[in-house]
Formats: sequence, C-alpha cells, structure tokens
Amino acid sequence: MKNIFKIFFSIWTITGIFLLTSSFSLSLNHAGDDKPWVVPESAKKLKNPVKATEDNVKAGKLLFSKHCKSCHGTGGKGDGSKSKELNTPCGDFTEKGFQSQTDGALFYKTKEGREDMPSFKKKITDEEELWTLVNYLRTFAPAGNKVEPDKQKTTVNEKKNTTENEVKKSTATEIQTTKEKVVIEKKDSAAMLMDSVSALEKSRIEGVLKLYEKALNASDTLAITALYTSNGIFIPPQAATAVGTDTIKASYKQLFKASKLNVTFSIEEIEISGNTAFIRAVSKGDHTLLENSQKVPEENKALILLKKINNDWKIYCYMFN
Ligand code: HEC
Repeated sequence: MKNIFKIFFSIWTITGIFLLTSSFSLSLNHAGDDKPWVVPESAKKLKNPVKATEDNVKAGKLLFSKHCKSCHGTGGKGDGSKSKELNTPCGDFTEKGFQSQTDGALFYKTKEGREDMPSFKKKITDEEELWTLVNYLRTFAPAGNKVEPDKQKTTVNEKKNTTENEVKKSTATEIQTTKEKVVIEKKDSAAMLMDSVSALEKSRIEGVLKLYEKALNASDTLAITALYTSNGIFIPPQAATAVGTDTIKASYKQLFKASKLNVTFSIEEIEISGNTAFIRAVSKGDHTLLENSQKVPEENKALILLKKINNDWKIYCYMFN
C-alpha cells in the first residue's frame, strides 16, 4: 500500500515538473522580440553555392521585391508597409549584427522562418533562388556589397557615364551659344544632343545582348530570366513558346540540361522607338551535347523585341531559328 502511494506520488511529481517546465518554455517562446534565433551549427556552416555576380544579384533584387520588401522594406531596414501590422520587429539588414551572420544562417532563417517571419520552403522551392536572395541581403551592408565587378556591365556603365557627360557638356554649350545668340550653332548642339542620347540607348541595348550571350554560354538560367520582362516571351524553334518568368526559366533549364552553348552574337540592326526597340542579330559558335560530349556547330538568326521598364531595357520577346 505504501509502495503504491510512493509510485503515485512520484508520477505526480514528475508530471508536475514536466508541466511546469513546458509551460515555462512556452512562455519563453512568446517572451518577445529579443529571443535569439538559434540556427543549428550544420546550417550555419552550409556553403553558398551561388557566386554573387551583378547579374544574379539583380535576380535576387527581383525576388526580394516580390517576397520580402512588404515587411523588410526597400532598403532592408525593416520598415516595409506590412511591418506595422506585425508583433515582431523585422530587424535591420544594414546592421553589423545582422551582416555578421554566415550565408548559411541567413539561408536557414529565410527557408525556415519563425512566428511573423514566414517560411519560404514552399514558396521558393528552388534553393539556388534562396542563395541568390542571401547574396542580395549582403548588398544592404553599409560599406556596400562584395559583388564581383562584371566587366560587361562596367563598360556599359562607363559608356553611359561618358555619354551622359557628353550630354551635360553639350547642354552647357547650348546655354553658352544661346547667350551668344548664335542660332545655327544652337541647332547643331541640339542635334548632337539627340545623337548622343540615341547612342547611349544603343549601347545600353548592346549591353543587354552581351549579358544575354554571357548568361547563355554560362548556362545561367537565373541571369537570363532577369533579363526578361515578367511577361516576357521566348520562342525557340521546334519547341513550345514560353510565356512569363517561370515558364521561360523552365524552357532554358531544359535547353541547358541538354547542351552547353558557346556562341557569339553579332548585331545586324538595332531600331529604337520610344520605350520599345528591336535587335536583329546572328549567333555563331557551337554547342556540346551533354549526353555524349559531341560538339555541334551552330548558327542562328535572332529577332529580339525589347521594352524599357523603369529605365532598364528588358527582353520582351526573343525569337530565333
Ligand atoms: C510578413 C512579413 C515578412 C516577410 C514577407 C518576410 N519577412 Fe523576414 N522577418 C520578418 C520578421 C517579423 C522577422 C523577425 C523574426 C524573429 O526575430 O522572430 C524576420 C526576420 C528575417 C531574418 C532574420 C533576421 C535576423 O536578424 O537574423 C531574415 C534573414 C529574413 N527575415 C529574411 C527574409 C527574406 C529573404 C524574405 C523574403 C524571401 C523575408 N524575410 C520575408 C518578417 C517578414
């Protein structure tokens, strides 16, 4: 009788302790915002397989605008429009404490989420995209990012800068000539201004094709889709037409699964009219079939329609044969 009582008593005590501790830890779970977010060591050590380049950081920016900006804000300061409705502050991505975390930790937090921070496991199923996002989060670091300089981009930007300077210079000349009332010279500088503006647009469009060529030869699906408008169209020969980012991405993925390209584009014609433009180009080179490593020469003709969106030229429709 005494023994049974003892057993009952200890079961009671154990249950009691268990209930106490679990309610204690439950209350800790809701204790507030300062609770450290523990990331498993193995997750912290995960290596980022996606190297940050200017192209894919751009892709990361698009993903951030779509999925994260509403809470974390355009500048990553945690001041997005939705942030006011949350119980938890979103954190400040520009802070040292945030940036000192490993890529693996940021990947883990984005993937798993907790409380007000949603899990993106199901919304962004392509892990490459999650890593691309992590690379974009790095750009919020106050000292700027460590994005590798992209030679092509730099040349386009340099060109842009010099042309812009020329535009500024010619505006200055224009003002001066007006002062001197030399009407003919003023007309000339206005024409020069128009010429340099269209030269600038042309070189920016050439830059888009250069980036496309680079991404194509690197089998970089993310960089390619970032060059398209969100409602873009890809019309490959003897295959289905792809419309919209996801379908276009799938279409290129399939292409890159089958072969590795090595081509060079040469432009035959560029026409610009307002916010639309087209390029007629020829691509020459070869592709290697991945199943048997056979190299096949190729030559294609391409017609590319572009649209200027937020001051960036984007591919709206790409057709080749
Ligand atoms: C609905 C609002 C919301 C959205 C959308 C959102 N977050 Fe968050 N995020 C939060 C909140 C709130 C926290 C703080 C969570 C906590 O500490 O418990 C947070 C925390 C984080 C952290 C950890 C911050 C730290 O200090 O370590 C990362 C990393 C992060 N978010 C990345 C992202 C990324 C990337 C996206 C988009 C793919 C995203 N978040 C979308 C609300 C959001």
